Amino acid sequence: MESFRIEGGTRLSGAVRVDGAKNAALPACIAALLTDEPVVLHRVPQLRDVSTILYTLGALGCRVVRHGEHVSIAAGERLSEEADAYSVRQMRASFLVLAPLVARLGRAVVPLPGGCAIGLRPVDLHLDGLRALGARIVERDGVVVVAAKRLVGSRVVLPYPSVGATEQILMAATLATGETVIENGAIEPEVEDLVTLLGRMGSEIEIDGRTIRVRGCTQLRGAEHTLIPDRMEAGTFLLAGAISGGDVTVEGIRPDDLASFLRPLESTGAKIVATADSIAVRGPERPSPIGISTGPHPGFPTDLHPPFAAYLARSTGTSRLTENVFEDRFVYVDALCNMGARIARSGRTLTITGVERLRGGSAAATDIRAGAALVLAGLAAEGQSMVTQLEHVDRGYAGLDEKLRSLGAKIERYAD
Ligand code: UD1
Repeated sequence: MESFRIEGGTRLSGAVRVDGAKNAALPACIAALLTDEPVVLHRVPQLRDVSTILYTLGALGCRVVRHGEHVSIAAGERLSEEADAYSVRQMRASFLVLAPLVARLGRAVVPLPGGCAIGLRPVDLHLDGLRALGARIVERDGVVVVAAKRLVGSRVVLPYPSVGATEQILMAATLATGETVIENGAIEPEVEDLVTLLGRMGSEIEIDGRTIRVRGCTQLRGAEHTLIPDRMEAGTFLLAGAISGGDVTVEGIRPDDLASFLRPLESTGAKIVATADSIAVRGPERPSPIGISTGPHPGFPTDLHPPFAAYLARSTGTSRLTENVFEDRFVYVDALCNMGARIARSGRTLTITGVERLRGGSAAATDIRAGAALVLAGLAAEGQSMVTQLEHVDRGYAGLDEKLRSLGAKIERYAD
């Protein structure tokens, strides 16, 4: 078990380059199951979640070669239909292997997923979508068995634009007969990146608003693809700069992907300068209070809610933050309160009454973004803070401590 020891109160300054997007990397690796030929991915972040998915693919029979940020995955013809229970329970995104396995092999046996503890996170929309494409599904003892001789294109109306369900149905539809139309699909940049990759693999996909049309085919080919930058990592570093009252530039990003995050950040008094591939932020002495509601893209991203709450803890008034995507993403709130924050929760809404100073404290990172919130609070707090259980932080941020140190932060990693 590892922890961060953070000495707060330093103004961060300098530039940091973000990695490829975790949430684009995971489905892209899994899409390699859809073809015999190698899929080569660039700008793959060196994260625990990526290692988990590559392990899962290796256990299914794929040949995986990884050189730093470059990964080659060749599924070949000898795939197993049964996914490794340990890795799927570790990480929810592994559940996406279901669609490619059924599409390629006619049958798949996949455990129900685990992942971050941020609410119920069922997979009903994934399974309803596959059923609509003709799959038969049996669920017992925490495992789903899905079978379909050949998936058949269909119209799938999602009651909610779930990212994972959209990706699952998209992948199934690429090898189904005929056309599939997904209505009310997710259009997060990471979903669009998967569509770009599937297009390079030979699939014909059109996105019009939230309607996604996929023309099925019998075979896809290998492809080479560079992943989009990680907007959540970029947002976290911008907040780290802002919370410290410093001056930080994130490089190698797509500013448009962060529009719904930058608007509220600017409203707090942070000064923002964007170029085609970078954003510089200068933090205010204390942020002005604001209201934020999370929502599916192009709404405010739920993954940036916990770090933004840490930032607002020092605002000059009362902010409201409503979480509309996950019903229970508030586990970090008690820890922030122990560091002096004044946050009250009512249902899905937090009322954050800004305080002048946070004080150092100690807390466990219970999920990836809760961990980021605690690190940011530690950077702003007076005195020393400890963030324990870094395994969650390492799932989503590669070298967070090194990158923060390069901006002047006093943060050390040590083994418990
Ligand atoms: C993905 C992201 C995660 C992000 C989330 C929302 C990856 C690997 N993870 O997660 O970082 O926070 O999108 O942007 O890309 N739901 C159902 N039934 C389902 C599926 C989802 O009720 O079958 C609900 C979930 O419980 C949740 C909401 O829909 O309340 C959103 O989930 P979803 O968009 O599917 O998120 P993930 O794909 O799990």
